[in-house]
Amino acid sequence: MDAQALKQMVATEAVRQVPEGEVLGVGTGSTADCFIDALARVADHLPGAVASSERTAQRLRAAGIRVLDLNEVDHLSLYVDGADEIDHGMSMIKGGGGALTREKIVAATARRFVCIADESKRVARLGRFPLPVEVIPMASAYVMRELGKLGGTPRIRAGFVTDNGNQIIDVAGLSIEDPRALESHIEALVGVVSAGLFAHRGADCLILGTTRGVQIFESTVASKAG
Ligand code: 5RP
Repeated sequence: MDAQALKQMVATEAVRQVPEGEVLGVGTGSTADCFIDALARVADHLPGAVASSERTAQRLRAAGIRVLDLNEVDHLSLYVDGADEIDHGMSMIKGGGGALTREKIVAATARRFVCIADESKRVARLGRFPLPVEVIPMASAYVMRELGKLGGTPRIRAGFVTDNGNQIIDVAGLSIEDPRALESHIEALVGVVSAGLFAHRGADCLILGTTRGVQIFESTVASKAG
């Protein structure tokens, strides 16, 4: 079974978790795209969705799903998104697609975060995937110097501008022992908009696509969002 088939499998499973008649949050990336495709089949039962990027907003509209502004929505019961890496404590690296800040905002407002991923994304320790950090352009050289002190190799994502008009610095070569502490540390740097570490608000549920079928893991930690 190839990676695309695994993504479609977890996307189909995630649609089963979508509460009828409620607005949900939708993430960004190729796995989230599969989720939107699967969601299109139940579009008639959905009042709308909040998108974590312009790309996702376009795809939702093309699927016949109304896109709502987060500020118009009282609460989100569910947010569904992919990840670049997820560890056994449900902390994630996200932002490979550069949508980390909006993803983090939508995730923060949702009662439940369901991560959909193929088995290549599940890791014992985060950090093999370069950690994306969204930064205000005038602060990029300063933030790069500060990120360099963490032991990794920071590099500006060339030719890329986020939906918020900012830059992404990808930090390669980190071995992340304490994801929460690192998330707090990076997000305290002046000029950083957000770090692609989702540890304080990790996933509540992981739907993992494996060659042996779908596996579902629930977090043992009570959700902190909503
Ligand atoms: C985008 C993200 C994505 O969730 C992450 O990059 C995974 O993408 P894909 O499903 O294409 O592997 O964080 O900013």
